[in-house]
Amino acid sequence: MKVLITGGAGFIGSHLAEAHLEKGDEVYVIDDLSTGSLENIKELQENKDYRARFFFSQDSILNHEKMLELVGICNRVYHLAAAVGVLYVLEHPFGSIRTNIQGTEKVLELCNKFKKRVLITSSSEVYGKHVHAPLAETDNIIYGPSSKFRWSYAASKLMDEFMALAYHRTNGLKVVITRLFNTVGPRQTGAYGMVIPRLVGQALMGQPLTVYGDGKQTRTFTYVKDVVKALIGLIENPEAMGEVFNVGGTEEISIEALAKKIIAMTGSSSKIEYVPYEVAFGKDFEDMQRRVPDIQKIKAYIGFQPKTDLDGILKSVLAFGPKRPTGSTGKTG
Ligand SMILES: NC(=O)c1ccc[n+]([C@@H]2O[C@H](COP(=O)([O-])OP(=O)(O)OC[C@H]3O[C@@H](n4cnc5c(N)ncnc54)[C@H](O)[C@@H]3O)[C@@H](O)[C@H]2O)c1
Repeated sequence: MKVLITGGAGFIGSHLAEAHLEKGDEVYVIDDLSTGSLENIKELQENKDYRARFFFSQDSILNHEKMLELVGICNRVYHLAAAVGVLYVLEHPFGSIRTNIQGTEKVLELCNKFKKRVLITSSSEVYGKHVHAPLAETDNIIYGPSSKFRWSYAASKLMDEFMALAYHRTNGLKVVITRLFNTVGPRQTGAYGMVIPRLVGQALMGQPLTVYGDGKQTRTFTYVKDVVKALIGLIENPEAMGEVFNVGGTEEISIEALAKKIIAMTGSSSKIEYVPYEVAFGKDFEDMQRRVPDIQKIKAYIGFQPKTDLDGILKSVLAFGPKRPTGSTGKTG
């Protein structure tokens, strides 16, 4: 099988590419390296069992001709390319909306043209500022005002979902939508604010672990290889087409408790430094207090159950070590 992964030189995309290469598939990646890196796919390009089946294009998903060629030759399309994370979107407001909306429209338009099965990666961010848990796919969505720019990431991902569902309903496009909750593992960088690599990097370097607000906000974390298994299971399940799925773990932890756990696991002498949200992110920010997925639906469709717990996830990140600068600020999850 021939598989196209947009954003395949990114964190999750590179693990997905590896899983398909392990299965014996041909893997095509398009990535503009805006937040991804060649380092993430170096092993895939050099490994003697993979290199003849791995094809990388450094290009944007907004390049129509390139995307026409790639979607045309592949049997499955995973759409992961996006301006990722609240911090990145706050720093690149216009380009992020363009990538996330026009880019996804391009992917859907071409998958519809060639009748290719496609998976879209949305985000737990789309739920907005709920305080209840767990969050089910049918829950209402609650956003702050448009003056709080942090909601543009959530809104752009939600618009992607609407476009995908519209293609499914009107054209019968085989598309599945995944709402990923915090995904963690080796190769993830803290440079764009992802909380675990950032805190681990700070602990290993003996710097203060910066926790935003009072640290009582909670998150769940899912190991990247569990997520990859879920993505492959969903795109191959005909019943999943036209459906939206939460993909995430259910072990809820506060960011303060997470920071303490990381200090204990690393044996670091670092202390926790509490930083007000306004100082870290400016006035356009508001946080989500809890983010825990209801995973009944994905369990029912593909028997999904995350295998790696938080301790296992942290061990894998520690074994990998901080690979790039951890960034001076960051979102809480
Ligand atoms: N990591 C998480 O916890 C998480 C949570 C929710 C949703 N997601 C979604 O999963 C997907 C993958 O995220 P990730 O964590 O691997 O982030 P990532 O930043 O590592 O991956 C995104 C990739 O897309 C590429 N890209 C961006 N704009 C592009 C463009 N115009 N053309 C081509 N490539 C482009 C980047 O260079 C990067 O390699 C994203 O859609 C993200 O929104 C991730």
